[in-house]
Amino acid sequence: MKPFVKWAGGKVRLLKEIERHLPVDFDEWENVTYVEPFVGGGSVLFHMIDKYKNITRAIINDINPVLIEAYRTIKRDPSSIIKILMELRSEYLGLQIGAPRELFFYRVRDTYNAMRFEDDHKVAFFIFLNHTCFNGLYRENRLGKFNVPHGRYKNPIIFEENNIFALHTALQNVEINCGDFSDIFSSLGNAPTFMYLDPPYRPVSKDVTMFTLYDGNGFSDLDQIRLKEICDVFSNKGCKIMISNSDSYDDNISFFERLYNNGYQIDRVKVTRMINPYNSKNRKPQEVIITNYPSPNSI
Ligand SMILES: C[S@@+](CC[C@H](N)C(=O)[O-])C[C@H]1O[C@@H](n2cnc3c(N)ncnc32)[C@H](O)[C@@H]1O
Repeated sequence: MKPFVKWAGGKVRLLKEIERHLPVDFDEWENVTYVEPFVGGGSVLFHMIDKYKNITRAIINDINPVLIEAYRTIKRDPSSIIKILMELRSEYLGLQIGAPRELFFYRVRDTYNAMRFEDDHKVAFFIFLNHTCFNGLYRENRLGKFNVPHGRYKNPIIFEENNIFALHTALQNVEINCGDFSDIFSSLGNAPTFMYLDPPYRPVSKDVTMFTLYDGNGFSDLDQIRLKEICDVFSNKGCKIMISNSDSYDDNISFFERLYNNGYQIDRVKVTRMINPYNSKNRKPQEVIITNYPSPNSI
């Protein structure tokens, strides 16, 4: 199973490290609830529910409503979006590379932006645009219109029918929410729970030492602190928690070491990123993996 969208911060390349940082006895847990409040393209979700059959309940969330509508549509019945995607794909790939494809892309983008949220076709258009736009980014202007330019891939794989049907089956035990990450926590029960939290990246470094209120990606340092406080609450309830982010320093002080300084373990791993909006000349991007249990690596 593969994600049905490319997503900024997607974790396909980090899966091995995530695996290595799971609780040592994770295989032996029974009736596990898996929680992912920043699900994005779902690379970790699909890997986990495919591999660990002891996960009997999964709860996912993201703040992006079109993305979440796509998950819900694929869970409910993907056949109508597959039909539309087939039409879009054959028309697009039948065009010459260059201006004809570009023109088609912008027509699809205009149509997508004019569609109502409830429109059945919107999810199919979203998936098409995701695979044909620049770097698979999702960005909207101030009017809420998708504005990423054409991507110019020679032979983009826009969707794979079998994969979408496999995702449909896999999503049957998954509860899907749309909203702020904090909303998801009210639906947790008493079962053994593992949470994987992958919030938007904090920039590699900031010029100021003070916590900043707002970030270009809409996720501020206050949100990072809010998230940490929720982790503390669920940590005290016995949940096992893993958080990943981009390593980040203010005046050579690690932001995440300063924040997660009460019994969490922080490991650094190297990554190559497909989409790295915060590339810095000074520091090679590194991922931090934070756990509220001893990492099997260091035992
Ligand atoms: C780094 S990405 C997650 C990528 C994901 N792990 C994957 O493999 O594709 C972070 C996600 O958090 C979502 N997000 C941003 N702010 C949020 C918030 N306040 N609550 C919930 N989700 C949020 C974004 O829409 C984005 O999909």
